[in-house]
Amino acid sequence: MVNRYYAKISGTGRYLPEKILTNFDLEKIVDTNDEWIRTRTGMSERRVAEPSQAASDLAYEAAVIAIEDAGLKPKDIDLIIVGTITSDHAFPSTACIVQKRLGIKNFPAFDISAGCPGWIYASNIAKQYIETGAAKHALVIGVELLTKILNYEDRNTCVLFGDGAGATIMSRAELTDISKVIDSDISADGTYNDLLIQPAGGSRMPASKESVENKLHSVHMEGNKIFKLAVKSMYNSCDTVLKRNNLDVKSIDWLLTHQANLRIIDALGRKMKIDKEKVIINIEKYANTSSATIPIALDEAIRDGKIRRGDLVLMSSFGAGLTSGSLLIRY
Ligand code: ACO
Repeated sequence: MVNRYYAKISGTGRYLPEKILTNFDLEKIVDTNDEWIRTRTGMSERRVAEPSQAASDLAYEAAVIAIEDAGLKPKDIDLIIVGTITSDHAFPSTACIVQKRLGIKNFPAFDISAGCPGWIYASNIAKQYIETGAAKHALVIGVELLTKILNYEDRNTCVLFGDGAGATIMSRAELTDISKVIDSDISADGTYNDLLIQPAGGSRMPASKESVENKLHSVHMEGNKIFKLAVKSMYNSCDTVLKRNNLDVKSIDWLLTHQANLRIIDALGRKMKIDKEKVIINIEKYANTSSATIPIALDEAIRDGKIRRGDLVLMSSFGAGLTSGSLLIRY
């Protein structure tokens, strides 16, 4: 199909819960220590949502900021896609709940379950809606409250994750716009679907007394195996996008990857041979917020004046599935 339009990122926003859980706080909960967490992951603290907060609450706050940043009103939005694996409910979608809170209706609103690349997957889809003319202003959100599904007796997982939401508006670009969503690649290798999983609560293992007692509603992960696949899958995805657009890594102004482990980000940077100063990192403050890491870091880097209009930004992620994906934009 011939694309009729181009898409651009016209607004961004983020919301982080106020409560901070530091590595030292975790020392009091589980057999771990600040030194191990910092040297093995790069994380120092993470945010934790209130018991009363759900995905749509965080997503709504980020969405309001992003809509305003784009110079729009909620009524201008004609598509909502939410990337999340910790939605308010199994159904209805968090997107529909956000839509109601924004006071708008009668257009597509749906969630994407793609693990940590949820926001990249959602952006890939929104891009196609915009390019075909099916939507004009898409609200694309990555939101996660992983602390709600962590087992705080499992030190292998409970130190790694935090809560947060990032929102972007993807709009139809004008011919005069320098900003453009250039390309996106998304992929999956389902043979690794069991490496990162919430075993119970779905149709495979509905909730039962045993599933709760055995803590099967929490995150289960084979971290070592994922580590190796993470670098490989993000490298391949970035390489696909760069090659497809005849771009050398030197032309990239910013590399913004999923914030799952500082060692993964460093290893990818080395493999890609990109200058360290061009790699955006905020993992120390928020840990791994899954599908929210990239839109949160994007918003932060823009508001801090790092990413400026016209910069070439390559974003890439990997996660449960095993999924992976990249998004290349001229901001
Ligand atoms: N504190 C102290 N010690 C710990 C902790 C902890 N929190 N966690 C594990 N250890 C111990 C282990 O028990 C092990 O001890 P042992 O040698 O006596 O058995 C030792 O540390 C080393 O464990 P490894 O698992 O080999 O540690 P590694 O260096 O691989 O780091 C980690 C583990 C951080 C999980 C790493 O493998 C990783 O980041 N993997 C990628 C995970 C990831 O990205 N997940 C998110 C996917 S995205 C998504 O969709 C949500």
